[in-house]
Amino acid sequence: MAGNSFGQAFRITTAGESHGPGYVVIIDGVPPGIPLTVEDLAVDLRRRRPGQSKIVSQRDESDQAEIFSGVFEGKTTGTSLAILVKNRDQRSRDYANIKDLYRPGHADYTYDAKYGFRDYRGGGRSSARETTVRVAAGTVAKKILGVALNAAVVGYVKQVGDICAQISDPATVKLSDVEELADGSANIVRCPDHPTAQKMVALIEQLRLDQDSVGGIAEIVVTGIPAGLGEPVFDKLKADLAKAIFSLPAVLGMEYGSGFAAATMRGSENNDSFVADAEDSSPADIRTETNRHGGILGGISSGMPIVLRTVVKPTSSLPKLQDTVDRDGNPTQISTGGRHDPCLLPRFVPMAEAMVAIVLADHLLRHRQNEAF
Ligand SMILES: Cc1cc2nc3c(=O)[nH]c(=O)nc-3n(C[C@H](O)[C@H](O)[C@H](O)COP(=O)(O)O)c2cc1C
Repeated sequence: MAGNSFGQAFRITTAGESHGPGYVVIIDGVPPGIPLTVEDLAVDLRRRRPGQSKIVSQRDESDQAEIFSGVFEGKTTGTSLAILVKNRDQRSRDYANIKDLYRPGHADYTYDAKYGFRDYRGGGRSSARETTVRVAAGTVAKKILGVALNAAVVGYVKQVGDICAQISDPATVKLSDVEELADGSANIVRCPDHPTAQKMVALIEQLRLDQDSVGGIAEIVVTGIPAGLGEPVFDKLKADLAKAIFSLPAVLGMEYGSGFAAATMRGSENNDSFVADAEDSSPADIRTETNRHGGILGGISSGMPIVLRTVVKPTSSLPKLQDTVDRDGNPTQISTGGRHDPCLLPRFVPMAEAMVAIVLADHLLRHRQNEAF
């Protein structure tokens, strides 16, 4: 199986390459009657697109979505939904001089090892442009979660290099804190701790001047998911979310709740006590006092906010010279000075939100299929 599809009840299939005519996603399982327009899709696509600020890639892709099927009179029809995003700003000449070289940190060598041949223009299928249509599918998934549960998925940049945001309660972060500064201007780094955001921007600008790049951490928070979504063994919510996150480019790790810090904690410190809000509590009134478990227990949502963090590597393409070899193994040096992001995190946030929303919409629809009647 070629691995171009993901999900069961809400199933996406993508096609497209960075220097082909564009990208398409086909989404199966969208319930009928959900309001959907290209303007809805444009919101997250604008958050993902290059050229949106001075600290991201200056490629100029407008990333306008077209709804090809599955919507009539502004509402989903319940049949397969197809969304197209055309490529506009491809410049193959940026890549002609590196066609026989292996860019460090990229998929060039592994694609050659697998297929014996590759589209060298910007990574072809391995390019992060593939996530354009995933972000569009994520908007549809967010709508399902919103309509059915009033649930919200909000992501933000938690760390850039060694600069870390102070967030007292992830579940209280609002999209407006992520997207805007207090004066109404754009929060271009997408860190809701605004004084720290300014420091992150300064670091990213410095890295660009140094012809280098920097990594970081994104945190994704989902509120409004009731207890009970997920499956017990292989399709645990944690497992499906991890697969979704690791299917994004440049991800090197992820954690839930207290995460890797749990390695040094005692059980008595890490456990979350259960409490009941009312005396004659039904299960729906039960919650935990703290949320070190990150909203998932036994692979099934606990009703607490789902909190996950993911580490994104520093951009591999650098104007700076790096050592490599050509296809024949001859040592050489390479500079990939196209129009790259010095830090991937600000544009990664909507991609991660989309994949998280897709998994949760899938599990919601699976859960409803299994409901007793
Ligand atoms: C938002 C985003 C934009 C990206 N743009 C670039 C880029 O301009 N240059 C680059 O070297 N890598 C970029 N990448 C990362 C590569 O696509 C990715 O590292 C590469 O395909 C190798 O895959 P892997 O890191 O998952 O192993 C981007 C990743 C993301 C999340």
